[in-house]
Formats: sequence, C-alpha cells, structure tokens
Amino acid sequence: MIKRTHNCGALRATEEAQSVSLGGWVNTIRDQGKGLVFVDLRDRGGLTQLVFDQEDVSDDIMEAARGLRREDVIGITGVVRRRDGRENPRIPTGHIEVVVTALEVYSRAQDLPIQPDEHEAENMSEEVRLRHRQIDLRRPSMQARLQMRHDLAKTTREFFHRFGFLEVETPLLIRSTPEGARDFVVPSRIYPGRWYALPQSPQIFKQILMVAGCDRYMQICKCLRDEDPRADRQAEFTQIDLELSFTDQDEVIKIMTAYLRRICKDLKDMELGVIPQIPWREAMDTWGCDRPDLRFDLKIHDISELAKKTDFKVFTSVFEHEDGTVRAIRLPGASERFTRKKIDMLEEAAKTHGAGGLPWTRWTEDGPEGGVAKFLGPIADELVDAMDIEPGDLVVFGADRWETVVTSLGQVRLRAAKLMSLMKGAWRACWVVDFPMFRWVEDRQRWVSEHHPFTAPRPEDIERLESDPGSVLSAGYDLVLNGSEIGGGSIRIHDSALQQRVFNVLGLTEDETREKFGFLLEALKHGAPPHGGIAFGLDRLVMLLTGTDNIRDVIAFPKTQSGGDLMTEAPGPIDQEQLDELGITVQEEVAAE
Ligand code: AMO
Ligand code: AMP
Repeated sequence: MIKRTHNCGALRATEEAQSVSLGGWVNTIRDQGKGLVFVDLRDRGGLTQLVFDQEDVSDDIMEAARGLRREDVIGITGVVRRRDGRENPRIPTGHIEVVVTALEVYSRAQDLPIQPDEHEAENMSEEVRLRHRQIDLRRPSMQARLQMRHDLAKTTREFFHRFGFLEVETPLLIRSTPEGARDFVVPSRIYPGRWYALPQSPQIFKQILMVAGCDRYMQICKCLRDEDPRADRQAEFTQIDLELSFTDQDEVIKIMTAYLRRICKDLKDMELGVIPQIPWREAMDTWGCDRPDLRFDLKIHDISELAKKTDFKVFTSVFEHEDGTVRAIRLPGASERFTRKKIDMLEEAAKTHGAGGLPWTRWTEDGPEGGVAKFLGPIADELVDAMDIEPGDLVVFGADRWETVVTSLGQVRLRAAKLMSLMKGAWRACWVVDFPMFRWVEDRQRWVSEHHPFTAPRPEDIERLESDPGSVLSAGYDLVLNGSEIGGGSIRIHDSALQQRVFNVLGLTEDETREKFGFLLEALKHGAPPHGGIAFGLDRLVMLLTGTDNIRDVIAFPKTQSGGDLMTEAPGPIDQEQLDELGITVQEEVAAE
C-alpha cells in the first residue's frame, strides 16, 4: 500500500514541486486522448485533480489509468504542479494538480447501484439511498453532516466540562421510564417471562445521580421510543442529557441559553438576538403552537367581541361553548399573491387540525371583498383598528372552541409563512415556560403528565393539585429554535410525599407506584437535593445546523418511516432455538403476517 502524506483536500500551491501520496475514490475520470488522463480523487478531506501523462509514466500505468472507473479505490504518488491559467476556484485544491508517477489500484467498484452524486441524490428515492448507505454517505453533503454532528458533540462536552458537569453512563437494560411513548422491550434469558425495557430517556437515573451527590451530570446518550418515525422523529435518537443539583429554573435557563448561544456562534457563526421566555398560554394564544417560530410575525388576534356583533352563524354559534372564540390572522400584502388554490391549501391546513373550515376575505381600499366579506360590514372599521389591517391584506378566521381555533390557526400561520417564503433570515430562539402540569385525556378518563411525572408543580399551585389539577402549572420549560423544539426539561420533585401526590393525581395507586417507581420514592427519602435539568435533541440540533428538515439525513444509519433498517434488514426473525431459550412462542397468525 502507498502510505498517504496528505488527504485529498489538503494540497495548495505552497506544496509546489513536492512529492506527495494520496489515497481515495475515483470521483470522475476524463481521458483527453493525446496521452493525458485526468482523475478527480476524493476522500473525506475533499477533491484533488490527478494527471496521468504519457510523457511521465510507464505504459502500464497509463493503461491502468485508462481502465479506472468511478468509485474505484486507488493510491498514488506524484508531484504537485501549479495549474497555471487552469485554476478551479470552486475547490480549495483548485490551484494545483498532482502529476502521477506511481499508481496502485486497491479495489474495483463493480455495478454501482447509485453514484455518490449530489445532483442525482436529489432525485433518488430515499429507500435506495438508505439501502446503499455505504455509497450515499460518501457524498460531501452527507460527510459534512457527520462532521457537524461530531463538532456539536465536541463543543457540547467542552462547554459542560467547563461548567463542572460530569459525564456518566446510564444503563440500556432497565425498568420502564415514563416519557409517554411505548417501550421497546428485551426478553430476559435468565428470568424467562421477564422483560427489560430500553430507556426512553435516562430520566430516573439522572435524578438518582443527583441524590447520589453527583452534583452536575451530562451524557450524550441514545433514547429509544417505540413510536412512529416522522420527519423530525426517530424511534432511536440521541439526547444531550443534563441534570443539576441545588438549582432553580432561572439558573438552568441561564446556563442552557449560554450553551445554545455558544453552539450557534461556534458552529454556525450565528449570533442569536434576544431569547424571550414566553408563557405557554401566551404562545398558544399568539402563535397557536407551543414551539412558536419567531422568524416571522403573523400573530393570531382575538376578535371574539367583534365577531359577536355579526350575523355570521359560523362566528356567533361558537359562543354556545364556554371556551368558544373567534380569532384571525392578517397576511400582509397576501391578497394578490394568494389565489383561490393557495387559500384552499390554507383551509386544508386548518381542517387537518380540527377546524370546520377557514373563513377568509381580501381587504381592499373599500374594505373587505370576497369570501365572508358580506358578514363583516358592521365590524369592518373596528377590525381594521384591532388588527392594523391594510388594503392588500388577506385576512383568515378561526371560529370554534379555544384549542381548535388556536392550533388550527397556528398551522395556517406556518403554511402561509411557507407559501410567502418568510422562514428565512436571522435565527430566533425562545423559551416556553409555565406549561400546564396535566392534560385530561378524554378516552382514558384520566389526567396525564404534560412533561413527565417527576416534573415539579409551581410552588404557588401545589395547593390545587387535587382540587383543580387542570389549573396547576409546572416548573417545566422547552427551548425552541426556529419553530423546532430542541430541548425540554423541568425542575423536579425532590420530596417523596409530593411525588406520591402527583402519582395519585395521575391515577396510580400506592401499590402501582411502589411496583413501578418504588426505588425512586425510596431514593427521595434518603436525602435528595433540589434538582432540575433538561435534554436537548442532538439530531434536531444537527438538522438546524446543517439546514435539513429530514432527521434521517443527520443520522449515519437511520430507520425508515416504517421503522426498518433497509441496509441490514432489521428487524428480522430469530431462530427457534433462541425463542425456546427465552421461553417465547410467537402466535401462528402473527408469524404468518
Ligand atoms: P423530551 O421527551 O422532551 O424530554 O425529550 C427531549 C428532547 O429530545 C428530542 N426528542 C426527539 N428527537 C428525535 N426523535 C424523537 N423521537 C425525539 N423525542 C424527543 C426533542 C426534545 O426536546 N427526560 C426528559 C428531559 C428532562 O426532563 O430533562 C425528556 O426526555 O428535541
Ligand atoms: P359557508 O357559510 O358554509 O359558505 O361558509 C363560509 C366560510 O366559513 C367558508 O370559508 C368556510 O370555510 C367557513 N366555515 C364553514 N363552516 C365552518 C366551521 N364550522 N368552522 C369554521 N369555518 C367554517
């Protein structure tokens, strides 16, 4: 093997006349005839142009060079030469080429199903890319994403190390943790009929580490949740997990804000402006979403009082409900740009989030025109004042119960921003705070935790835990960047009696609690410091830092939308012998599927 002296992105004019050796993949090959063959050689570092010149090398080497094909793996030795007058300013090595004197072909690339080509990848089915990941990952854009993942992990460890956080590993084979998703389970051979769960997060362990005096913990860890993958969600994903002792919400938010600013600055050269703390209720009222994208305005306005003055049944009928409301969004200057077809797209967004429809009107110099204009006459002037409407605006309305109105208009807002190309420019982050502690689930007729059951209620709300759980707010917080929830956490309960009260509200009996979380309750009785923490979604951060909205692009070996690994074809069957050893029988009808 020819020992490399440089990688394929390293050489510059300063190395002129030096003898160098490179190894890599044949990216392109151009046979000029006239005894000249050009090869672009590629490795993780970049591209270097090689020249095979009949004048300088033996016939054997010329012959071998002519026989090269894309993605063959070779090593060369040669001399660096300036490309006087034929520079390629688009690549860092574009000022030089290497005139080859020795060639070794290590491996031939046969019958490639895909090429590592950025252009082709855009039109290639993702399935093919995932099946042949070894080629897909050769693309410079994929290598750049792996690099960014590495850089983020490195910056993260350095940052938290400086703040006194200790990296501690926590187990993968555990009892269930309640993060609200389904567990992946692993059968135990030693205890037939018993199962481990894979961690949905290290939540309970990091709290126990605080009780154990670890003071400040961090870990970059895998979390596993058996839920359907989505564009920004994988069943197996990575968290930057953190926990601190003797802390409060203000301190956690302060440190984590500094961390976010650091990674945006160091990895993206992006200064984040003001990072506001927005109460959950205000986020829902104003942006219709608990992870508001603040890069653009398009706020939701409450126009209920005006709506009551109209004869429009869609508006007036909502007030039969105690929480009935009418709200509107003004899309500045959108009247002309939004054809009927685009308005229908907005209506579709509203409907898929529970709205009955999307009343709209165009605003002109003479007031509203088209859509529901005829109902708006009596309130037109007041609407203009309330929402600062200007001629040329499109105004859309939501009329229903509170949650339906705000969430559907929140989606309309996002869809409109996409259609109006508003989602660019400076990055914007915010904290969302003051979440409700519990959510009522109608089908199950019970309260569930909005975050997880170890989240502390706000001290001033504790007295209403049993009498009015729906009104209790929590000491939970989410960090949102450009409309993506990149992290979530809370101050925890460190008092076992309060923890038991919260379990009771969640409908867990004392027996069930003891069975599921006995070890945590016991730990809290053995001297627990006040503590709190957060976990960031590492994959989501890398998505933002590398500008993709597909989580599979930032994971080397991701699962598909249907949870499979196309390369290794997992999940696969296992041997009868393994099943017997575990004492598991697969039902015949399941096996047949
Ligand atoms: P949570 O469940 O909010 O909190 O998760 C924290 C962050 O992890 C990311 N995330 C995901 N990323 C990709 N795919 C998924 N399926 C996925 N699920 C979550 C999100 C999210 O903000 N133990 C608590 C944290 C704590 O309280 O300290 C927890 O896991 O970016
Ligand atoms: P209609 O009176 O049915 O022609 O509806 C007038 C406008 O109100 C249309 O833009 C519909 O999308 C909207 N609309 C109709 N029903 C509802 C509803 N239940 N909730 C919200 N909007 C509605």
